[in-house]
Amino acid sequence: MTFDFTNKNVLITGGTRGIGLAASKLFAASGGNVIMTYRSDRTSAESALKELGNGNHSIFQLDVSNAAAIKHFFSAYTAKYNKLDILVNNAGVYLEHKILETDYEAWQHNWEQTIAANLTGPANMCYFAARLMREAGTGKIINISSRGAFRGEPEHPAYGASKAGLNAMSQSLAIALAPHNISVHIIAPGFVETEMAAEILNGPIGQSIKSQSGFNRVAKPEEVARLIAVYASEGLEFTSGGIVDINGASYLRS
Ligand SMILES: NC(=O)c1ccc[n+]([C@@H]2O[C@H](COP(=O)([O-])OP(=O)(O)OC[C@H]3O[C@@H](n4cnc5c(N)ncnc54)[C@H](OP(=O)(O)O)[C@@H]3O)[C@@H](O)[C@H]2O)c1
Repeated sequence: MTFDFTNKNVLITGGTRGIGLAASKLFAASGGNVIMTYRSDRTSAESALKELGNGNHSIFQLDVSNAAAIKHFFSAYTAKYNKLDILVNNAGVYLEHKILETDYEAWQHNWEQTIAANLTGPANMCYFAARLMREAGTGKIINISSRGAFRGEPEHPAYGASKAGLNAMSQSLAIALAPHNISVHIIAPGFVETEMAAEILNGPIGQSIKSQSGFNRVAKPEEVARLIAVYASEGLEFTSGGIVDINGASYLRS
């Protein structure tokens, strides 16, 4: 499958590693200008930028859990780029906080951090992106959710809730923004081979997680990236509001 994102500006939060980096590379290889945000590690963000090769690519530091930082980021973005075609809300955290084994302060902290990064952050990114897209009369937003929104996350309950909230928020925005020719797509991966899941996948239950799929493996970040590119392509606007699973048939919802 080949993609053509020539002259498209593609903004990817957490775009410098994991699924985000795989998507950044695919958009850059397909002609897009890729804007990657990173939270803290400037050095690895700079090497990710080099990996993209030629194009009007850039990196911006941004903590998506900080509402004021998002406003500030969009001022810097519009000083450099005159439009935004595609927003991928990819950045997220997966914090463990088992209900019966976590003290109350840590429980509070993990809820706040998770909701801020995984739900309020994407909502705030959509707020500013939607204004730029409305001005252009077109745009696509792709939000990275999770199988955990449906299957449950007993050891990461805020994560499951944040992704369920992200699904509901995305569907509301899909309705609100359709009249402006802006589509909102939701991609829900099961486990993916990235740092986020490495400890679990390399630990004692790693093999049992892989065997949840008949393919006996989890997804590669490049597979999720390809699905992101599919929904960012022209012609799939009418799938707006839909949630697409990518989990090797490890969990089928009705
Ligand atoms: N891996 C899985 O098994 C899996 C399964 C389902 C869904 N997902 C979802 O896929 C997305 C990408 O995950 P991944 O597997 O690629 O994880 P990852 O390798 O841990 O990367 C997470 C990315 O999010 C960024 N990030 C986290 N908190 C942030 C914040 N507050 N502000 C800005 N950036 C922040 C990180 O930036 P830094 O590098 O600067 O920390 C990093 O680039 C997430 O939304 C995740 O929930 C992953």
